[in-house]
Amino acid sequence: MNTTIQIPNYKFRIPIIILLFLAFTSTAQSDPNLGIIPAPVSVNKGKGEFRLTPETLILVDSPSNKAIHFFTEYLKKAGYINTVLDVNTVDKKKYSLKNSITLSLNFKGDLPAEGYRLSVTENQVIIEGRGAGMFYGIQSLIQMMHGTNPGYAAIPCATIKDYPRFSYRGMHLDVARHFYDTAFVKKYIDMLAAYKINSFHWHLTDDQGWRIEIRKYPKLTEVGSKRAQTKIGRATGGDSTSYDNMPYEGFYTQDQIADVIRYASDRYVQIIPEIEMPGHSLAAITAYPELSCDPSKTYKVGETWGVSNDVLCPTNETFKMLDDILLEVMELFPGKYIHIGGDECPKIAWKKSEFCRSLMSEQNINDENGLQSWFIGKIEKYVNSQGRNIIGWDEILEGGLAPNATVMSWRGDKGGIAAAQLGHDVIMTPGSGGLYFDHAQSKSPQEPLSIGGYAPLEKTYAYNPVPSALNAEQAKHVIGVQANVWTEYITTTAKVEYAVLPRLMALAEVGWTPANGKDFTNFSQQRLPRHLARLDATGTNFRVPVAYGAEDTTLSGSHFTIKLTPAVEGAKIYYTLDGYAPRETDQEYKGPMEFTIPEHGSLHFKTITITAAGRRSNVSDIKMEN
Ligand code: ACM
Repeated sequence: MNTTIQIPNYKFRIPIIILLFLAFTSTAQSDPNLGIIPAPVSVNKGKGEFRLTPETLILVDSPSNKAIHFFTEYLKKAGYINTVLDVNTVDKKKYSLKNSITLSLNFKGDLPAEGYRLSVTENQVIIEGRGAGMFYGIQSLIQMMHGTNPGYAAIPCATIKDYPRFSYRGMHLDVARHFYDTAFVKKYIDMLAAYKINSFHWHLTDDQGWRIEIRKYPKLTEVGSKRAQTKIGRATGGDSTSYDNMPYEGFYTQDQIADVIRYASDRYVQIIPEIEMPGHSLAAITAYPELSCDPSKTYKVGETWGVSNDVLCPTNETFKMLDDILLEVMELFPGKYIHIGGDECPKIAWKKSEFCRSLMSEQNINDENGLQSWFIGKIEKYVNSQGRNIIGWDEILEGGLAPNATVMSWRGDKGGIAAAQLGHDVIMTPGSGGLYFDHAQSKSPQEPLSIGGYAPLEKTYAYNPVPSALNAEQAKHVIGVQANVWTEYITTTAKVEYAVLPRLMALAEVGWTPANGKDFTNFSQQRLPRHLARLDATGTNFRVPVAYGAEDTTLSGSHFTIKLTPAVEGAKIYYTLDGYAPRETDQEYKGPMEFTIPEHGSLHFKTITITAAGRRSNVSDIKMEN
């Protein structure tokens, strides 16, 4: 009975599918990168497309590989019902390569690290890659798949060769200022993996909260993960002096963290845990005042933002506790790197301390920068003794760099340049390069509260991680690039998503695509709109850019043509000419518009973009004056 009902449905669906394919083909044809973000190293477009149907066989030579597992799970969740065959055990005469997708890890020849080859013809799709390379080939394939009919997709014919520009491609998340549960952290990791970002820097401790269970020192979370209240609005320079009077808390158990590490590893994402020292440690000091230079003082977990003068004191007791903490961290996190912070450590408490003065004289240390360097050096020695390496913010250069440290250059490029010139590995993450995703995305007062700054999408996209000051040998020490998400003003997961998307996609291209393959117009106008439409449909929040051609500006003259393209596929653009903020009850933009402005006259053309799911852009304003 079932089949007889299904047959007419199936036939009826065919014309719709063809329409969808045609719609896709017209956009894809003009896009040299076939919609893939980050843009691949090389794309040779073919003619026609492969049709993925329920009959398409998925042929694998490594069925237990985690990239293969990811793909088969993806297909199931997305409503595909394809059969997966292990080519090692199935008789080759029993299946045809026509209408198949082959995922091969056991191919001959070399590929660059994390690289893959992807070939799509009308008959067959083949991905070759090992480990992360296979996973990234699969991500590209998923991005190329089109169609809305469950179980069916079209994939444009092409040959792609691809591998990353940098080995370290990172996103950071500060869970100390505001806390996000592991379900969100996993969603965040999903976003990274989909865009070939392979490193998640988890900022777990700071003045305002200690967020990782340490079994030997339970007060770190019993006391340090809780603050009594939080400053409302800006910490400084704002018009509010109020606190919200609402207790705030949260931390991850080691079991939860182990689960997240497994989840990330299944997606080829390494996690770099950060335990801040010697500054940004007020939460730890509140739990254990003996970590400070003045244990008699009463401390409280930070309730406002900025840099605290209460820092760790370089006593034997402090180092014992830090070694114990780091040991638990290293037992939990399997990766090569442990981030030890090192940024923004005021030296006031050390200057006041009799202990620090005598320690400096005993160790022949000239000044407090030297003492910080000695501190980091001791920690590095311990971390190295456990077979791991430290990463620190660029302040660890001051007073002398620990011998094996990798530097994260956040205060511009200069720390990165200095470290690379000293032969140290460097990860570029300068706020001035558009890589602080807590910075505002436009200058419009309609942006939500942020720490300030200005990091629009095009600025992130334009960043080049290799400073021209480095020669070729030194440039090899730039192992990659990262964007940071500090969360003083990011109170919700929806706001994290707003801060991160779409800038994460620009970062992905900075870290992956060869410098000469980057093209902002192709990225933002041909590829991004479809990616944002997909997010829109899956319930992930993002910042809706104003329509291309509608950005705030003042134009002088008498005659103007305005031509707009929505920044999200399928979104609608509404406009007003009466000075009011447009909304969905206003006129919809349908095509290029001509305006003639009389002498001494002016007109405001205001727009808003509203996506299919109802997400709204800022209101933009083009003032035309004569
Ligand atoms: C930093 O932004 N303090 C690394």
